[in-house]
Amino acid sequence: MPGTAPAAELSSKIIRGDKIMELILGIDLGTTYSCAAWVDETGKPQIIKNKEGFLTTPSAVFFRSPSEKEVGEAAKQYAVMYPDRVVSQIKRHMGEEGYTVYMDGADLRPEEISGYILKKLTEDAVSTLRAEGAIPPDEPKSIAAVITCPAYFGAGERHATRTAGELAGLRMLAEPLNEPTAAAILFGTLQQGDTRNVLVYDLGGGTFDVTIIHVEPGLIDVVCTGGDHHRGGVDWDKRLMELALQKAEAQGLLTADAVYEDPEALQELTLSAEEAKINLSARPRAMLRFTCGGKTARVEVTREEFEAATEDLLQDTLRLTDDMLAQAAAKGYPLSAIDELLLVGGSTGMPQVVQALQQKYGKTPRSFDPAGAVAKGAALFAQKSAEMEKVLPTTPAGRDPKVLGRLGGVQVRNVSSRSYGVNAFDIADDVEKLFIIIPRNATLPAEGHSRFNPRNDNQSASRFDVMESLAAGEVAPLSEGKKLGEAVLELPAGCTRQTVIDVTFTLTEGGLLQLHAIERDGGREVHAQFQVSGGMSQQELAEAGDRISHSTVE
Ligand SMILES: Nc1ncnc2c1ncn2[C@@H]1O[C@H](COP(=O)(O)OP(=O)(O)OP(=O)(O)O)[C@@H](O)[C@H]1O
Ligand SMILES: [Mg+2]
Repeated sequence: MPGTAPAAELSSKIIRGDKIMELILGIDLGTTYSCAAWVDETGKPQIIKNKEGFLTTPSAVFFRSPSEKEVGEAAKQYAVMYPDRVVSQIKRHMGEEGYTVYMDGADLRPEEISGYILKKLTEDAVSTLRAEGAIPPDEPKSIAAVITCPAYFGAGERHATRTAGELAGLRMLAEPLNEPTAAAILFGTLQQGDTRNVLVYDLGGGTFDVTIIHVEPGLIDVVCTGGDHHRGGVDWDKRLMELALQKAEAQGLLTADAVYEDPEALQELTLSAEEAKINLSARPRAMLRFTCGGKTARVEVTREEFEAATEDLLQDTLRLTDDMLAQAAAKGYPLSAIDELLLVGGSTGMPQVVQALQQKYGKTPRSFDPAGAVAKGAALFAQKSAEMEKVLPTTPAGRDPKVLGRLGGVQVRNVSSRSYGVNAFDIADDVEKLFIIIPRNATLPAEGHSRFNPRNDNQSASRFDVMESLAAGEVAPLSEGKKLGEAVLELPAGCTRQTVIDVTFTLTEGGLLQLHAIERDGGREVHAQFQVSGGMSQQELAEAGDRISHSTVE
């Protein structure tokens, strides 16, 4: 990072203390493509190629047998032959309560499926680095990583991302790092000394993030962040598929219904649509080809037709960008103060994205290493975290990343992507509502306070739900909140209905919610526990870990 540690210190990718030789990676776990990066001997972040020689690996898992999994391009291709044995886009279900995929007699959680992707990425990274002679053949003994996630991810999704890494046998150096923040870390590192306000427009395969970041020497300050975690390249693919089906129907060759009912034909069309979409970024027209019921359809789509069919998707991202610009303006960063529009994510390769942003905001967007910026930024962050680990002792609450960052010369200041609160009855109208304690886009670490009274005298414990929401303001309808988990306050002896318990909610830099409670008058500590619901149980973790460790992942 700029003007901080000498290059020699940055290059210590393997820690040689206590004989633990650890490889440190930054991992971009994407909806459609994933990649791993490290900081090389010269202190530069580099993407590590997979065994097939590519910089990115499709995030698709083919379940060949209970003990054999194939991840990446091969899995993507196998989806045509075995559509029900290939899982893709699992990131869209991270943290979704109760979501499982039934395979070989077991219900697999998204954490486990992501675990296979991470296993492939990390095993490939090791074999590539060994083959290149960058690390000795008997190293590393372990792998530590920082995995990125959309800024938009809430606590449940972050928890699931972390679990996926642990299931893959990785030591997590930090909580999941926001993708746009990772891109900004790389940007800030390359910027060397300038103060810039940047808008990061990240349109990936499955998610859209828009983030406004202030970068200055020694500080990366996230001003605000928003987006839509169900908007990405795959939605453009779907529109192109629909367009191709309409054309094929018009040719009288086959019906759209027949294709939708034929999983093999549908997979073939899906692959063909993505390929055609990417071609349309460079050419005025592209071909799609797919077979259904013995008939092969070949249809041509022009860029104009594709752009018209997806215009509303693009407009949605611009609306969200406007929202963020309004929030940034309220925090003292108006559009006129934005120096750069940085494009991250593969889908920003579509020329209509560049044109629309240019037209709307009157600034020329800069494509910023769309495939690698996130993983490289994560690698820099991981490297820094690992170095600081050697300096700072770990406390039960974890290391303070603020201190960590400052020691490294660069402080990363993040914001909350959600609002957090509790449900309670509003005395004014006796309606149950969501009372927001930590608002969305609050600078982290953020603190909020709430008060509770026990419902009965001499109650031993008090429970309440903690809610997560995208709502702004102080109070919102209950329907805008989602239960995040349950908090339990273990009340000291002798509390009555009049006892006031002050509860402090803290959202750490890593996005972890912690609770601390105290009896207001007596000053006694109240033990407060908070657990995110919907995570995997101990038994599920043990079973998934067992399946992963007994599987080969090619
Ligand atoms: N030249 C291109 N033109 C249009 N789309 C492209 C191009 N190159 C890649 N894409 C699309 O970009 C998407 C992949 O981008 P990226 O790797 O940034 O996403 P991801 O990390 O998988 O997803 P996310 O960040 O949303 O989780 C895919 O939908 C892919 O088809
Ligand atoms: Mg991505």
